[in-house]
Amino acid sequence: MNYQDDIPLAKRFRSIKTLTIKSSFGLGALFVGLGISLTLIANKSFLVKVKSIDDSNTPTSENKNKSLLGHLPYPEASKDELILFSPGIYVHKEIYENFKEMQFIAAQRGVSLQLLSGYRSIDLQRDIFYENKSIRNQTAVERSNVSAPPGYSEHSTGYAIDVGDGNYPDTHFEAEFEQTPAFKWMKRFANKYHFVLSFPPNNKQGVTYEPWHWRFEGTVNALRKFEAANKITKFK
Ligand code: DAL
Ligand code: ZN
Repeated sequence: MNYQDDIPLAKRFRSIKTLTIKSSFGLGALFVGLGISLTLIANKSFLVKVKSIDDSNTPTSENKNKSLLGHLPYPEASKDELILFSPGIYVHKEIYENFKEMQFIAAQRGVSLQLLSGYRSIDLQRDIFYENKSIRNQTAVERSNVSAPPGYSEHSTGYAIDVGDGNYPDTHFEAEFEQTPAFKWMKRFANKYHFVLSFPPNNKQGVTYEPWHWRFEGTVNALRKFEAANKITKFK
């Protein structure tokens, strides 16, 4: 195994620089080292390249460039990060207790928060995006207003959920969900459980308002995933 294999790519550049300077001796070598450093600093494209490799999920202008039809790239959760919440629906382990508690408290007020979907693999997102697009005879741009392209859905992280009102199934995934007790309750209390509405009306990503789609931001891991989304100024 190459010794650099377990060093992140961006840090490898730093290691090489340090090694170069350390292994240099004598004034001449120092000048060479200084020359390399100055060249690297002067070469902005090099710096930008290193940054984009290192910070794939942080708010940089590169992230904006990496966006696709208004959606940001999201990694797929690994199997050991997921837990089965209800038949066929997996979520990130870090969500489980918070959603259960929120459901329980809401139920005490007669409000039924139903989990409609959670984690989606990138393969499943691919099916959703391309199949729905052709069924509805929509272009990719049109479809992207309501569905993320594969590799660009918050659902792939396991931290995003779609919520419905168990007492009003006709409103599932519909704008009318906004009128239900479940949505009204979520709007008032979900932040206490670290759930936030990902695509509010007129959101800066240009995605259609989705009152049912909430993401969890209650851990550092989760926050890191959505750091770029939280820093967006204007996409589309
Ligand atoms: N419906 C949202 C945009 C998604 O597919 O992730
Ligand atoms: Zn969703």
